[in-house]
Amino acid sequence: MPLELREFTLADLSRGLEIEKLAYVPNPFTPFLFPGPFAEEANNMRSESFVKTLEEDKTARHVKVIDTEIEGDGHEQMVAWAKVHVYKEPPELTPRVFGPGSNIEACEKLWGGLLAQRTRLVGDKPHVYLHMLQTHPTHQGRGAGTMLIQWALRQAQELGMPAYLEASPDGHSLYLKNGFKDIDLLETDLSQWGAKCMHKIWNMIWYPKEV
Ligand SMILES: CC(C)(COP(=O)(O)OP(=O)(O)OC[C@H]1O[C@@H](n2cnc3c(N)ncnc32)[C@H](O)[C@@H]1OP(=O)(O)O)[C@@H](O)C(=O)NCCC(=O)NCCS
Repeated sequence: MPLELREFTLADLSRGLEIEKLAYVPNPFTPFLFPGPFAEEANNMRSESFVKTLEEDKTARHVKVIDTEIEGDGHEQMVAWAKVHVYKEPPELTPRVFGPGSNIEACEKLWGGLLAQRTRLVGDKPHVYLHMLQTHPTHQGRGAGTMLIQWALRQAQELGMPAYLEASPDGHSLYLKNGFKDIDLLETDLSQWGAKCMHKIWNMIWYPKEV
């Protein structure tokens, strides 16, 4: 298997954001939530928030998966990446800010709901938050996502802390396979912006094994 876990650094950020964008293209809600156009300012805002997290946020841990058989530099070899936050103390939860090109009202409805669920479900508990997980569409179904979930769970197990996440329909069955359980489901009505069905996100938790 040529897939290997490696440290994700600042030099990987532009490829990471490219993978993020491509991974969410097939999501049927992307056109309603992020209709664009995306001025450079919006891309810079997203990138700057990741730089800040990478440089300053002591709770954040990032990792990437590379395919060692792809010819080229580290940029081309990277096929997936993830970010977790290790909250040894209950986190200070703040609303996400959306840049130009986003449908701010729809985004605030959805992410506001997610923040309220998170606050209610784990806001007062130490936990590992699996915040980002994405695989380049060309490389999905090869096991990179599983490697990243297992990486996150090894940390939760070592720390003896539960792991929490908000699952998209794409990720839901994979998380169930890896031992996460549903604790709630957030359904958001985005029909006023043209969505044909409810937007669904599963709140999921995994508990460390007793040792
Ligand atoms: C969700 C996501 C990260 C999964 O990544 P991935 O790298 O495709 O994950 P894996 O390859 O480990 O597993 C995907 C599926 O392929 C299967 N699989 C894993 N290794 C495989 C292999 N070698 N050959 C064939 N299938 C394989 C898994 O069993 C899994 O099946 P399932 O969908 O029935 O659960 C990816 O689909 C993605 O980026 N989606 C868009 C962004 C998103 O929604 N992220 C999740 C946010 S919560």
